[in-house]
Amino acid sequence: MLEPRIAPSILTADFARLGEQIREAEEAGVDWIHLDVMDGRFVPNLTFGPLVVEAIRGVTRLPLDVHLMIAEPERYLEDFARAGADLITFHAEATPHAHRGLQRIKELGKRAGLAVNPGTPLEALTHLLPELDLALVMSVNPGFGGQRYIPATTDRIKRLANLKAHLNPECLLEVDGGIKPENAAEIYRAGADVLVVGSALFNRQPLAHNLERLKGGIHA
Ligand code: DX5
Ligand code: ZN
Repeated sequence: MLEPRIAPSILTADFARLGEQIREAEEAGVDWIHLDVMDGRFVPNLTFGPLVVEAIRGVTRLPLDVHLMIAEPERYLEDFARAGADLITFHAEATPHAHRGLQRIKELGKRAGLAVNPGTPLEALTHLLPELDLALVMSVNPGFGGQRYIPATTDRIKRLANLKAHLNPECLLEVDGGIKPENAAEIYRAGADVLVVGSALFNRQPLAHNLERLKGGIHA
């Protein structure tokens, strides 16, 4: 059986020991590192910018999956590309020029992703599917780690997976927010290719143990 990629979100990691935590994730066998960039405008929280992405680039070989939850994302695409992002995803709600932003990311030599919030019709990204390397379906309202998975997301994943099979089978379908061992199988079976997992991986338990439990959940 094909495995989904696991992309740990560092949002609930211990930022005082970030390098160590990322190495621990890499050794445990995760696929990508998911970096949540928040600007206090598009979402009601602030995290970090290109400087931290660059520092993380220095401690891991894993692909860096940068999730921009920022207004006017086009202003910062070059900075994140230069910082060492491999995939750059911004929100359809954050700009009237999504198509231009995607082209710019590709010009910068990176893989381009587009995200939609739980309240946004999938159509905000389906017409751009042929342009996408990654389509990100948010399963919580972005801004904070440790929220509950919104059940209606499962149906959205199924619909998008169907469309993608026709329009762009190469595009990866990523799901972000509230993913735990208990719901991972449902999300994977609905058609997710990449699972972003924050608090269920970075918590008080060792990451390798949490990853085992998550993988057990995927095939439960
Ligand atoms: C939410 C972020 C996430 C999220 C994942 O705004 O995009 O990546 O924090 O964390 P959990 O798995 O704890 O929901
Ligand atoms: Zn995210």
